[in-house]
Amino acid sequence: MPEDALPSSIITTPDGSRTAFNARFGEAYGSQHGAQGQAHHVFLEGTETHTHPAPRVLEIGFGVGVNFRATLADAQRRGVALDYVAYEFDPAPAEVLREVAQGGEGAEHPLWAKVLELWPKASTAHSPLTTSYRNLRVTVHFQDVLQADLPRDWATALYLDGFSPTRNPEVWTPEFVERLAGTLEMGGILATYSAAGHVRRSLAAAGLQVERREGAAGKRECLRAVREVGSVEW
Ligand SMILES: C[S@@+](CC[C@H](N)C(=O)[O-])C[C@H]1O[C@@H](n2cnc3c(N)ncnc32)[C@H](O)[C@@H]1O
Repeated sequence: MPEDALPSSIITTPDGSRTAFNARFGEAYGSQHGAQGQAHHVFLEGTETHTHPAPRVLEIGFGVGVNFRATLADAQRRGVALDYVAYEFDPAPAEVLREVAQGGEGAEHPLWAKVLELWPKASTAHSPLTTSYRNLRVTVHFQDVLQADLPRDWATALYLDGFSPTRNPEVWTPEFVERLAGTLEMGGILATYSAAGHVRRSLAAAGLQVERREGAAGKRECLRAVREVGSVEW
């Protein structure tokens, strides 16, 4: 499809990757300064998933799948197993996911093709999407993550990627962040693009060791938070 025929919600970012605009929240799904760059810097590298021998990733929320494709492509490149579990309560049309991915990393991977094939046709209630290809597996739960029965002591990495705390405050509250901390295995790492003071304080209050990092393009800082051995038990 020629570039000018793309749906108006698709945004091409300076690193050549794409994201989309979400009208409900009035925000882009990913960084408009570089969607793929943010996925790699903030999430993959922030959680050290890019060096992990068998990452188990928990993501909130799946959005248009930029973080997932970056993680999938990285696991495939390194030949490691991947178990990726995401939550998404408002699935974008499959066509938007497809257009965002076009020409990008992971877009040609058979697991991404399966995700698109199984993606819900309408944004009403759906059973989880779960599919795999060789040693790579993905599950997307189409529900409000606040109501979810989250795994415990499981994730090697948690991508906290809600919309901004001002527009999507419920996934950034101290109570919810404390629940998220309990999903990490010992040594597991949570990463987020936000460096807001209240997010930092919530992560610390949940017993995580919080570190500020240089942000991805367009952002001064981002955060990573480690569940260290000997930290608060849940
Ligand atoms: C910033 S976007 C995520 C972008 C995504 N990680 C990507 O790579 O394209 C935030 C996503 O979180 C989802 N979300 C927000 N609050 C949620 C909730 N309470 N439960 C489940 N999903 C939620 C939104 O619908 C949206 O798709």
